Amino acid sequence: MLNSLKGKRIILGITGGIAAYKAAALTSKLTQKGAEVHVIMTASAKQFITELTLQSLSKQRVYSDTFQERDPEAIAHIDLADTADLVLIAPATANIIGKMAHGIADDMLTSTLLAVTAPVMVAPAMNVHMYQHPAVISNMKILAERGIQFIEPGEGLLACGYVGKGRLEEPETIVRVVENYLAQRDSTASGPLKGKKVMVTAGGTIERIDPVRYISNDSSGKMGFAVARAARALGAEVTLVVARTDEAPPQDPAIEIVRASSAQDMYEAVSGRWSDCDILVKAAAVADYRPKESAGSKIKKSGDTLTLELVKTTDILETLGRSKNKQFLIGFAAETGNAEVYAKDKLVRKNLDLIVANDVAVEGAGFGTDTNIVSIYDAGGLVLDLPLVSKDEVARRLMLLAAERTSGAAL
Ligand code: CTP
Repeated sequence: MLNSLKGKRIILGITGGIAAYKAAALTSKLTQKGAEVHVIMTASAKQFITELTLQSLSKQRVYSDTFQERDPEAIAHIDLADTADLVLIAPATANIIGKMAHGIADDMLTSTLLAVTAPVMVAPAMNVHMYQHPAVISNMKILAERGIQFIEPGEGLLACGYVGKGRLEEPETIVRVVENYLAQRDSTASGPLKGKKVMVTAGGTIERIDPVRYISNDSSGKMGFAVARAARALGAEVTLVVARTDEAPPQDPAIEIVRASSAQDMYEAVSGRWSDCDILVKAAAVADYRPKESAGSKIKKSGDTLTLELVKTTDILETLGRSKNKQFLIGFAAETGNAEVYAKDKLVRKNLDLIVANDVAVEGAGFGTDTNIVSIYDAGGLVLDLPLVSKDEVARRLMLLAAERTSGAAL
């Protein structure tokens, strides 16, 4: 891996916890790897570690006072914020997490944080009960929803004497997380799907019978999520249209999430964005039929049998396949036997560019698992056969294929 830290401007925010001493090692390791580390300390951090230590290790001026403007040409906290590639808060106390969540800017670090547009990573360190306090949990949730990434504390003996979760992650690990993140961001910035708009659908649709009952399927959403992440990692602008799933969609501020519950909702969400889309990946399991009537109130039990009349939903892929112009269309065929035959038929019927076929009856393939076994076909036949691999790897190979076919460039 290329050194992704080289030449990067990192603001390291150090707040007042006992783990502040580890920030010295962190500063040293980041600096040794070629990063330009600009340390901002809170007043409490200075109770634990000196400015001089961090200045000597980073070879940069250390900031702590908003009003100590040493350069008349620039306002320090704005200048630092504007030029940062990444902000890392380590250790982050419950106090800074609370201030960040609520937009408080009463010192150099918090003022800079409000002005910054670069990604922010937070490595909390505190007593185990503080870490589990509902206020801290809710503040971290607010920040996570805003796209702030957490480097979770480790478990072990805490300075307060308790054993539990709250110990600042080791500097080596923090450096590795930052390095991986920057490497991925660099590849996103120059990836083969750069400039492409990719829309991905994921999960299983819900077709309402009444307010408390519905028809759905076993789709977990994992494959679609993996495709969205892979497309993003290769530089695409990604919209993820999500039906019912087993887990939350990727929390990446660069992936737009659109909720669509039923086949009709999904049709509207996808067709509304269709003209703008370059690549559509329909990993969702869309219901083929929905109840003809969806009762407004709960259906009461009566009689020994109940007949539900179902009507066909719109086949989203088939409809869009007919109006395709520049778009590259990828469908999925989850089958239980005869996958190749059915997949090839769907490819033609829906006017697709690629179809990903899998036999969900085979162990390790299909719904709910983290792995898949797929064969990818185009109009000419088999393009790629992937043995049992992770859904992330299937997604990566699929998106590389799409990149190659939409740009004409060799892999
Ligand atoms: N699909 C769709 N709209 C639907 C049904 C399916 O867009 N109403 C898409 C799925 O997202 C998937 C592909 O079509 O990418 C194949 O789905 P599948 O249910 O296997 O295809 P069907 O044509 O419904 O065939 P089958 O008879 O096997 O259900």
